[in-house]
Amino acid sequence: MSDLSSRLRDVIAPVIAFDSDIEIVKSDGGHLIDSNGKQYLDFACGIATTNIGHSHPAVLKAVHDQVDRFFHAGGVFLYDTLVTAGEKLREVTPEGIEKFFFMNSGAEAVEGAVKLARKTTGRQGIIVFRGGFHGRTMGSVTFTTSKAKYRQGYHPLLPSVFVTPFPRPFAWNMSQEDATDRALEELHKLFQHQITPGEVAAFLVEPLQGEGGYYPAGERYMRELRSIADEHGILLIADEVQTGFGRTGEWFTSQVYGVKPDVLVMGKAIASGMPLSAVGASAELFDQFPPGSHGTTFGGNPVSCASAIATIETLHDVIPGVGPLSKHAFSRLNELKDRHSSIGDVRGLGLMIGVDLVDGVGNPDPAAFKHLAAHAHDAGLFILSCGPNSNVIRFIPPLNVTTEQLDTGIDIIDAALTSYEG
Ligand SMILES: Cc1ncc(COP(=O)(O)O)c(C=O)c1O
Repeated sequence: MSDLSSRLRDVIAPVIAFDSDIEIVKSDGGHLIDSNGKQYLDFACGIATTNIGHSHPAVLKAVHDQVDRFFHAGGVFLYDTLVTAGEKLREVTPEGIEKFFFMNSGAEAVEGAVKLARKTTGRQGIIVFRGGFHGRTMGSVTFTTSKAKYRQGYHPLLPSVFVTPFPRPFAWNMSQEDATDRALEELHKLFQHQITPGEVAAFLVEPLQGEGGYYPAGERYMRELRSIADEHGILLIADEVQTGFGRTGEWFTSQVYGVKPDVLVMGKAIASGMPLSAVGASAELFDQFPPGSHGTTFGGNPVSCASAIATIETLHDVIPGVGPLSKHAFSRLNELKDRHSSIGDVRGLGLMIGVDLVDGVGNPDPAAFKHLAAHAHDAGLFILSCGPNSNVIRFIPPLNVTTEQLDTGIDIIDAALTSYEG
């Protein structure tokens, strides 16, 4: 055990779990460098956060410049980076999203969005989707159903939160169309048996489930949610904390599907790793959320906002490249699927791709992922899993990855699965 690991065990509460024991000393573009000087291709991106890679020069400059000016305003003073970050967001978020408030984390932004929905509709019901992940705070963990262990021991959670199945074609062994029908049928049953639509403030949905196993909602499902929401005065909250900022090929997955959310929740990649999140909605909706109804000390920190401005400006040049890179990645991963019996499914959008690892009878195979992660680690690739069984490769390289780097990472996965399958 390294000296740092033993010091960590001595002083850091074990509740915060780490996905590896790699000691990072430096990061550079698409790479992480550990304390032994070993370089890793980072295909986890700090869990979908470093969409333009680590330590991008434009981000470094913006952060340094802002630190030299001032780095805290605490919700007391006006400052330019806050307003500019809002203006930059308005240029890229879906039509109808006009104003923003900033928080620190995804969980906080989710809670802010739900508070906005309850306050402005005067209704209590929140409908969430089984397998969704929305954070770990007491409110947001109520909305999180990707793994029961995240909720275990914390009940009672928030009341009036209802869970409906999300389309999972591969797990349900059916087509996307059939899974969409089944999920919609379940939603109508929920309205029939548990809560009437007129009591529902919001749907809180990830347009592509992240922690839940990289399942895209599909365009028809999102359109149906939009139309049910319109019919009953329910707000559609899109949690794009993981799917935003070019990850799925457009700025936001709502734009991929052409479905406008009423409320957009953003985090992770918004500021390339500086802590920042945001909630966007129409001016009309925000006019019904009175000043002081919500607030924060650190949210919208000047340095984080400077980082967000540089990140968004950089992404304008990066996002057009996601489509071709995605095509290449899907074609290579599907070719691997043809050769490896341990790959059951390859799914996703853009550069948010799930590779579902299964055993000989098609059941989830977490041991396959463990083997792959260890092999990849030795070979210089850092990769994470997702899904309720931790058996899905979460394939999320930086959006400015090169084709050569993509190929290197996929070759490592190929070799790891070959050695697993023996
Ligand atoms: C879709 C989604 N929403 C919310 C969150 C919570 O974000 P945070 O960890 O910044 O609180 C996450 C984190 O993984 C997420 O993926």
